[in-house]
Amino acid sequence: MSITQEVARRRTFAIISHPDAGKTTLTEKLLLFAGAIQIAGSVKARKASRHASSDWMEIEKQRGISVASSVMQMEYRDCVINLLDTPGHQDFSEDTYRVLTAVDAALMVIDAANGVEPQTIRLLQVCRARNTPIITFINKLDREVQEPLNLLAEIESHLGMDAVPFSWPVGMGRSFGGVFDIRRDRMRIFRAGQERRGNQDDLIQGLGNPAIAARFGDAFVKANEEIELINAAAPAFDQSAFLAGRQTPVFFGSAINNFGVQEVLDALVDLAPKPGSRTALQREVQPDEPKFSGVVFKVQANMDPAHRDRVAFVRVSSGRFDRGMRLKVSRTGKEMRPNNVVSFLSQRRELLDQAYAGDVIGIPNHGVLQLGDVLTEGENLQFTGLPFFAPELFQAVEVKDPLRIKQLRIGLTQLGEEGAIQVFRPEAAGGALLLGAVGQLQFEVVAHRLKHEYGVEARLMPSRYNMARWITAADPKVLRKFMDANAANIAYDVVDAVAFLASSPAQLRVAQELYPGVEFHAMREHG
Ligand code: G4P
Repeated sequence: MSITQEVARRRTFAIISHPDAGKTTLTEKLLLFAGAIQIAGSVKARKASRHASSDWMEIEKQRGISVASSVMQMEYRDCVINLLDTPGHQDFSEDTYRVLTAVDAALMVIDAANGVEPQTIRLLQVCRARNTPIITFINKLDREVQEPLNLLAEIESHLGMDAVPFSWPVGMGRSFGGVFDIRRDRMRIFRAGQERRGNQDDLIQGLGNPAIAARFGDAFVKANEEIELINAAAPAFDQSAFLAGRQTPVFFGSAINNFGVQEVLDALVDLAPKPGSRTALQREVQPDEPKFSGVVFKVQANMDPAHRDRVAFVRVSSGRFDRGMRLKVSRTGKEMRPNNVVSFLSQRRELLDQAYAGDVIGIPNHGVLQLGDVLTEGENLQFTGLPFFAPELFQAVEVKDPLRIKQLRIGLTQLGEEGAIQVFRPEAAGGALLLGAVGQLQFEVVAHRLKHEYGVEARLMPSRYNMARWITAADPKVLRKFMDANAANIAYDVVDAVAFLASSPAQLRVAQELYPGVEFHAMREHG
């Protein structure tokens, strides 16, 4: 197969949801339906108890086992589907934002009882900012849930895009009869249980079919009215509007009962885009160019603290990756020849020896690769768009044993490069290093890892800051003047980008008003 053909059959997406909406269950069922796993339960088993999510020991464990499960590759209907996992806990949402830069589409899972929840909204904002197409799956129709019309309205108001139902539920909870496939004009009958695979459901053809009305009574009458309403009021599905992130196709089902899963898989193949071109600073990079290029979007430390090795997750942007090929890191000019690429869950081993645009390869290394790094066959390329968000929580960090200060710096630099935490070095002499996080749990994980991986007992102390903005100015003199006037609030991050740290929104506002020539950024893009 040519590179162009290989690219055309790839679909790379992430599942996003609020915890407990059913992301793990749906992931597992997608794998099951695609034949990538044989037994239900194997993905679920990897998910540590959610009640332990505040316990960093559990996070440590999850970190280790999650390398292999963070990218799942499956083949379905001649397509190679790459499913990228996102961390469930909101304290690690930064990680999720970066994973979203490596996908071409997102699958949003919504708990039909809870509707659109806060965690989902934040993730959606990232998708919206990037115009990522979103497919929506409304889960748990086997329960008493919200009215489907209300759910649609909620999705539309939160997403700011039109929701176009492809299927419609008939009843819910105990009276859940199934879903009506609006495009194919037929009803798929619900049966509880996890044994069913693929299209083994009973189907009844035709919305006007008296057999449906007779069997489902009031639930059908209601669904029928709603479908008529939708047909009259909802916009028709428009593939280009979906690809531009202006419409989302909506499916209803019950993941635990394997119901509605097949439709989602088919939608991924039929609707979701193949990998597209990527914009580098130098030029537009096409996915089917002969030469390889890829971007590190995630770095994960391995479990073995003695080796301190890390796995860099590289999304292939163009060309073909072959095991053992010679690659150049654009940032440093260093060469590497990755041989032992990390295997992800996949049906066919040979898929791992070669990878094409859309695929993800895991390259073990000892710090050669950082977040945002670009690998090529020699060309110097830089991609923008890997987001770092301004932290909202800060702690000052000191080492208990002053002789370990060097280890502290090494540890924090590496953890900072990995994106586990943001590290700020104050410009004022003698100031303690500052850690910036989006979630409280990040501090605990960092303190734990400093101790176990770097032998440093760190003391974390409250900090007076709770906001950061990266600052730039068209005129370097203006920037310098601002920095001098605010020396106590200036710090440098791990790539030496300058930030202004404030203790209140009011302080930030004052600074902005006094220095109109300075730009304050809540997000920094790597590259
Ligand atoms: P998450 O990854 O998004 O956090 O969610 P997960 O799949 O773990 O699902 C959260 C809970 O919702 C689980 O129940 C799961 O069994 C249940 N669930 C998933 N899909 C459906 C569905 O279609 N219908 C119903 N009724 N429940 C569903 P749990 O009791 O919290 O965990 P467990 O004991 O089942 O593992």
